[in-house]
Amino acid sequence: MALRNIVKEGDEVLRKHCRPVTEVTDRIRQLIDDLTETMRDAEGVGLAAPQVGVLRRVCVVEVEDQLYELVNPEIVAAEGEQFDQEACLSVPECQGWVRRPFKVTVRAQDRNGETVEYTGEGLLARAFCHEIDHLDGILYIDKVEDGPDGEQEEE
Ligand code: NI
Repeated sequence: MALRNIVKEGDEVLRKHCRPVTEVTDRIRQLIDDLTETMRDAEGVGLAAPQVGVLRRVCVVEVEDQLYELVNPEIVAAEGEQFDQEACLSVPECQGWVRRPFKVTVRAQDRNGETVEYTGEGLLARAFCHEIDHLDGILYIDKVEDGPDGEQEEE
């Protein structure tokens, strides 16, 4: 495994649409492992491939010591709503209020190419949505709204 550099907002790689993974190869497994190591080193709850400069539909999420390795993830069900503060390792030292579904189900492939489904609520649902957005060139700052006290982005 290796730590990779996290691309910061302003780099156009974060705005690109990522290509699907057609086969989960050793190279993809290496990417998954590097994403995990880099996410943990940065103390994040998720990291997507474009954040390390790789335009493939791969991301990792880790919430409550549970690691989710997601290849070609898509949200197949969503319900409810949550409105809370969100941050991103590519937008350092900022956070903003973003509306997300309270509960989502994600379908993806795992590191062996097997189809998996995960359902998450609260922070886990938020992290799934945030990381999958990255695969379509979307950053949370595109979705920030005024918070309950009227504040927007916080430094
Ligand atoms: Ni992010």
